[in-house]
Amino acid sequence: MKALIILSLLAYSSYAGYVLVMNDTFTDLSNWIADVMPGSASGNSEWEYYTDSPNNVFTTQINGQNALVLRALAQNYEGYNYTSGKVHSVRPWGPYGFFNIKAVVPKGNGLWPAIWLLPPNAQTIYGTWPACGEIDIMETVCTNSSGYSTIHFGGEWPNGAQWPNNGYNMWSFLPNWNIQHWYGLDWQPNYINFWLDAQMINGKITGGQLLFNIPSSRWYALNSNGQRYPGNAPFNQPFNIILNVAVGGFWPCWEGCCQNLAIPAQMEIYNVQIWHNSQSEE
Ligand SMILES: *[C@@H]1O[C@H](CO)[C@@H](O)[C@H](O)[C@H]1NC(C)=O
Ligand SMILES: *[C@@H]1O[C@H](CO)[C@@H](O)[C@H](O)[C@H]1NC(C)=O
Ligand SMILES: *[C@@H]1O[C@H](CO)[C@@H](O)[C@H](O)[C@H]1NC(C)=O
Repeated sequence: MKALIILSLLAYSSYAGYVLVMNDTFTDLSNWIADVMPGSASGNSEWEYYTDSPNNVFTTQINGQNALVLRALAQNYEGYNYTSGKVHSVRPWGPYGFFNIKAVVPKGNGLWPAIWLLPPNAQTIYGTWPACGEIDIMETVCTNSSGYSTIHFGGEWPNGAQWPNNGYNMWSFLPNWNIQHWYGLDWQPNYINFWLDAQMINGKITGGQLLFNIPSSRWYALNSNGQRYPGNAPFNQPFNIILNVAVGGFWPCWEGCCQNLAIPAQMEIYNVQIWHNSQSEE
């Protein structure tokens, strides 16, 4: 009897662990689509034109490791003075799961690199942005040493909300930007946790630093009458993963660092892992 109980506990704990469902080490770009769009379409008044040119979006080997490179260049293109790279996942993922992205992120004037998630076409049953939700795992601007994690939700523009709140009341973390880090998101029905340098070992999130915890009571989605949808809306829908290097735009230029741009610059992404656990849905 005792032995049976122990065995069933073991079986349960391995069932409750996280299982790898995607492990992209960028031997090719088959899991990604390069967005081709002017910075004006970003909603952030960005200064680059995103292209799918191999000058802006490509895989290569860096120090013996495969990487996706998103490179910002000073280049005249379609009336723009800069080009850069932005990709989104071929298919949406989740809802829920542990998303861990290993990258080297560029710093310098005018740069706004980001690792984030957004529903396809920024729209779900809850409406358009930001009622549809957005999860920013990592953003950083210019030479400022702070990295930021944020979620956006609420009603459709301009009735959105974010956590943490607007302005300077944003959560920041201070990685050494010169080296590779894992930028992690544990997205679950009842909480969203952001991680730095965590690893998955034996189905458990291990090591690293838990940066921020957001209980689901902090987020909501509003219908057009301003009433809340039930449950944990809007973060119960599948989202695309997005990786990009913006040039200029509202945030860096508002910080006053849109002169003497540090271009060319590139973000290098070495690995994207997605893990599901027993709470995750497919
Ligand atoms: C992901 O794939 C790479 C390359 O095949 C491999 O070295 C690595 O161990 C894999 N990661 C996991 C967590 O399985
Ligand atoms: C390109 O640079 C010129 C000269 O500084 C500027 O007038 C123009 O607005 C820039 N174009 C874009 C799309 O940012
Ligand atoms: C980085 O930006 C934050 C928020 O915009 C600001 O409070 C902080 O002083 C900046 N740090 C540096 C080193 O510029």
